[in-house]
Amino acid sequence: MKYHLLIITTALLLSACDINESMRTNAADSSTSDARVIAAKSGCMGCHAVSNSVYGPAWKLVSKRYQGVPDAHAQLTAVIRSGSAGRWDQITGGKRMPPQQGSINDEDLKVVVDYIIALNIPKQATASTQTATKQTE
Ligand code: HEC
Repeated sequence: MKYHLLIITTALLLSACDINESMRTNAADSSTSDARVIAAKSGCMGCHAVSNSVYGPAWKLVSKRYQGVPDAHAQLTAVIRSGSAGRWDQITGGKRMPPQQGSINDEDLKVVVDYIIALNIPKQATASTQTATKQTE
């Protein structure tokens, strides 16, 4: 029984990824839940939360800091891969992030980094974009 549930869950996750790949611009909500699932299974959420600083800084704060930085995606990817210290001492009291290597592949990391960067974009803007997209369909 447990196996069946696992297979069904996996199949659902995989099909959600496929849909998401082709409809990324329209499906803001499902890409958000994908990113959260990936972040949780990759161990990020053991130290991070979206809105609160737990062990590491709240991802909303990270998003705010990197807003408008042109190569934010590349910078964050590099920092996550190589580990980080000293950037958030005033929030974390000097905690470090160990290099995140084997726990997450490039494709998944890209989804999570996109998600983190987008956190600071006001919800209203996303909602009106979706409405606009729907109207033109
Ligand atoms: C062992 C705890 C731990 C884990 C696991 C962890 N982090 Fe972190 N993370 C931290 C800490 C602590 C910092 C702040 C480091 C600093 O002050 O430079 C941080 C910082 C960050 C930052 C901000 C980097 C910057 O340049 O400002 C991002 C983004 C981030 N983590 C994403 C992730 C992602 C994605 C994962 C999962 C793949 C992850 N973290 C896993 C503890 C962790």
